[in-house]
Amino acid sequence: MLERGCAERSEQRRTASVETEPRRPSWNIRSEEVAQLAVVGAGYVGLVTAACLAELGHRVTCIEIDAGRLTALEAGRMPIHEPGLAELVSENSRNGRLRFTGNFANISDITSVFIAVPTPSAEDGAADVSFVREAVELLVQHARPGLLVIMKSTVPVGTSDAIAKLPAVLDAGIEVVSNPEFLRQGTALQDFLHPDRVVIGAESAEAMGRVARIYASLEAPIVAVDRRSAELAKYTANALLATRISFMNEISHIAMAVNADIDDVARIVGMDRRIGPAFLRSGLGWGGSCFPKDVLALTSAAARYGCETPILRAAYEINQLQREYAAQLLIDALHGIDDPIVAVLGAAFKPNTDDVRGSPALTIAKRLLGNGVTVRIHDPFALANASDIVAEIDCRPDAYSALEGADALLLATEWEEYERLDWTLVRETMRGKTVVDGRNVLNGVHLTELGFHYKSFGRPAHNGNGNGTHHHTNGSAPHIAGTSME
Ligand SMILES: NC(=O)c1ccc[n+]([C@@H]2O[C@H](COP(=O)([O-])OP(=O)(O)OC[C@H]3O[C@@H](n4cnc5c(N)ncnc54)[C@H](O)[C@@H]3O)[C@@H](O)[C@H]2O)c1
Repeated sequence: MLERGCAERSEQRRTASVETEPRRPSWNIRSEEVAQLAVVGAGYVGLVTAACLAELGHRVTCIEIDAGRLTALEAGRMPIHEPGLAELVSENSRNGRLRFTGNFANISDITSVFIAVPTPSAEDGAADVSFVREAVELLVQHARPGLLVIMKSTVPVGTSDAIAKLPAVLDAGIEVVSNPEFLRQGTALQDFLHPDRVVIGAESAEAMGRVARIYASLEAPIVAVDRRSAELAKYTANALLATRISFMNEISHIAMAVNADIDDVARIVGMDRRIGPAFLRSGLGWGGSCFPKDVLALTSAAARYGCETPILRAAYEINQLQREYAAQLLIDALHGIDDPIVAVLGAAFKPNTDDVRGSPALTIAKRLLGNGVTVRIHDPFALANASDIVAEIDCRPDAYSALEGADALLLATEWEEYERLDWTLVRETMRGKTVVDGRNVLNGVHLTELGFHYKSFGRPAHNGNGNGTHHHTNGSAPHIAGTSME
């Protein structure tokens, strides 16, 4: 089904997913020294952290204030979808190394607490650290002297320093360490247990050593730095990854204008060892709970220190433009059709998660709904979360039911099952023939041969791309007013 370049990439992805597939034996990484730990927050980071630390052999109490989430966990149900997590939580709950509570009073025997609560964007784009402060206030009331507070939440530079200086924290003899998390949803267990590095930002050798010992059984370099550098490194990593994608999306518009193939361009550029192949794919751009808020938070923090951030602003704006560009492609294709229907395949911001925070699919769905389009959506895991955010979308239990009678299709999340659709059947079942491949993963040549109007993000006409006529010929992408960067 996939064209050659794509097939190769898909094969690489499959191999990668085999490599990152949970390998139970290799998780037998027991720590020699067992620590009494707590993790505050049972979300995408906190629950993974708690389960993995228990897997390393530590005794872990996971504190969650959301009653619904806590009840689910206590009953053995997963509040989030992350491959392999349910098994790890259930096994470590059974063997007594992992327990859940909503009560901070249960931490009296704990020596180190990881904070993994949200740091969402405030109205002005700055990171809202109120959840972190609230968690620390609750901890302080029940902490034993010498408690280590380990910051896993992504917090603006200086947050850990500021918390360390709070009178209540000083009085309780608490030390604060920055230990930013770099895991990716979808491969979170693998990333946590086999990280590229463990970053520890601490102000004393004793605190540094205590955190390093918690991770001692992992085969990963420990990078010991000060708290501020650790905090800035986390934002820098996310901002750089986001910028790479936005950069390639900018190049993809040039590729369309000159009829070059962005996939080939990315492949060639990625073969340069100074650059590397990751995060060079063009398409709908980045979403999720981290990249958008972290780019905004870094921009906002920089402004407070009087630093200009034109690159970060451009990366953010280009990302918004990609969604607008995709929505416009669909709206143009639906011109003149009565009661148009679009089928959106994928609601999660990326495959292998049920997380729809910052998802391009939902931004585009809202824009289409605003233009009088009926929007149907399918996702293997994220439908419930999607309908919580956009109630008007018509959620469908499988892709074919979403496509039946639709005038256009938007592939928004590259779940593998969408690459394996029976396109002959899809052609018969759809009313229209427009396919917008928001992730550049489908075989445009084959779809064109089948009679679809295939539109991609930077593939040339000879590879099936039919959006040349919609390309902006004035050399610049359209300007979108009203992004939160302005
Ligand atoms: N999601 C990721 O891929 C990822 C990766 C690296 C870093 N981070 C960072 O980790 C932090 C957490 O992100 P997330 O995606 O896990 O968030 P999340 O929303 O999935 O989970 C946060 C959890 O904390 C709970 N919580 C909030 N306040 C609490 C309190 N006072 N006591 C106990 N529980 C409380 C919430 O109910 C929720 O269950 C953020 O700062 C984020 O930027 C996230």
